[in-house]
Amino acid sequence: MAQIVPSILAADFLHLEKDVQLINRCGDIIHLDVMDGSLVPNISFGFSVIDQLAKIATVPMDAHLMVVHPERWVEKLAADGVRMCSFHWEATGSNTARLISRIHELGMQAGVAINPDIPVSRLYPYIGKADYFLVMSVFAGFGGQKFIYETLDRVMTLRAALERRGEKALIEIDGGVNLGNAQTIREAGVDLIVAGSAVFGAEDPAAAIKALRGA
Ligand code: DX5
Ligand code: ZN
Repeated sequence: MAQIVPSILAADFLHLEKDVQLINRCGDIIHLDVMDGSLVPNISFGFSVIDQLAKIATVPMDAHLMVVHPERWVEKLAADGVRMCSFHWEATGSNTARLISRIHELGMQAGVAINPDIPVSRLYPYIGKADYFLVMSVFAGFGGQKFIYETLDRVMTLRAALERRGEKALIEIDGGVNLGNAQTIREAGVDLIVAGSAVFGAEDPAAAIKALRGA
């Protein structure tokens, strides 16, 4: 069954504690979108926020690094108790395998992320190394964008590549998920479904998480 990973990018930053407690109660994992204004055209939040969230999050934290030089931040994330850490292949290129190893040394699960314009085959060298693959379903940088449906073909292509190699890495999808497309996404075999606006823009976020899960 797919796990629901609410993104606090869409949460109420004046009352973050309330939204983290909601994820603790109803979500499976909490998604932290870190943007640097260089790899992506937006800036989100950094350790001043993550350090505080870490004190109250009881579900695992999944950091999504949309930054150049992600290797600079992994140690501090691990010290904060982050369990899953993904970074963009666009940022690391030929250093990707090395960063996966470093993340493992720090005791975290390693994820490799790609934007929709990067061939999914770029991930193949990391099959058997990465714990999960984040196939972006919008261009990284902003919440509230429209889901790109071709992403589901990419997920199935990646799933087939994993199966051919007998590997069980998880596939995460991020961006534009809503109550209207969640079932199709679940049926495509996605393991981790990130959702920001669909959860925190809903009148009843707990009910939205339940509906995304298909429960
Ligand atoms: C976009 C972020 C997403 C974002 C998703 O760059 O990586 O995690 O929060 O937001 P929604 O679900 O609103 O598309
Ligand atoms: Zn994200």
